[in-house]
Amino acid sequence: MHNIPIKTTSSDNMSVIEAIYQRRAVRNFTNDKTSRELILQLLDAAVQAPTAMHEEPWEFLIIQDPSVLQRISEASKKAFSELPPPPIPSASKMHQHFTSPDFSIFYNAPSLILICAKPVGEFATADCWLAAENLMLAACGHGLATCVIGFAVPTLNTIEWKKELGIPAEFQVVAPIILGLAAEKAAPVARKEAIILGWL
Ligand SMILES: Cc1cc2nc3c(=O)[nH]c(=O)nc-3n(C[C@H](O)[C@H](O)[C@H](O)COP(=O)(O)O)c2cc1C
Repeated sequence: MHNIPIKTTSSDNMSVIEAIYQRRAVRNFTNDKTSRELILQLLDAAVQAPTAMHEEPWEFLIIQDPSVLQRISEASKKAFSELPPPPIPSASKMHQHFTSPDFSIFYNAPSLILICAKPVGEFATADCWLAAENLMLAACGHGLATCVIGFAVPTLNTIEWKKELGIPAEFQVVAPIILGLAAEKAAPVARKEAIILGWL
């Protein structure tokens, strides 16, 4: 384990409730690269997540090399462009945007963290998502911005990319999360009220 003290409070004293309500998916980043020390703190927060049978089935890969990020983006866009065109006009516009040469699926974020699941038990992916939310809330508490990039998942789980990135073939890339400083504040995205099916 890394010799980083477990942080129980954020640097700016944001409460967990504030972080839950303030976290947003950010898609516009500055070039500032998050330090290794801060990323280690975020990983430490991630692994505090609940984990079925205490399996702790997660492993992490950090990618900060812009050329690697660009190549993953291009490979994901290529895979997407080979899918049948969507029949709905709005989806077709989105399809065009996602495949345009200037578009990076990582929105030019300086860091990408992959949360990967070891093949242990039926809840390994659930555990990884819990770790993902911990990581994103901790990042928010540190004034950093994140966004899950599900778009990259199929490409990252190909044998070729796992081999290139050093991810064991039997692992599953569950949550790719971009990380950095927001270049602009993301607008809040409204949620529907929680629907209560019953209260017995
Ligand atoms: C599993 C998952 C996959 C996602 N994939 C993408 C993605 O590929 N690209 C993207 O821009 N946002 C992606 N998002 C972000 C969502 O679009 C975003 O969380 C949602 O619009 C709500 O906005 P908020 O997070 O600011 O509340 C993803 C979110 C989740 C949970």
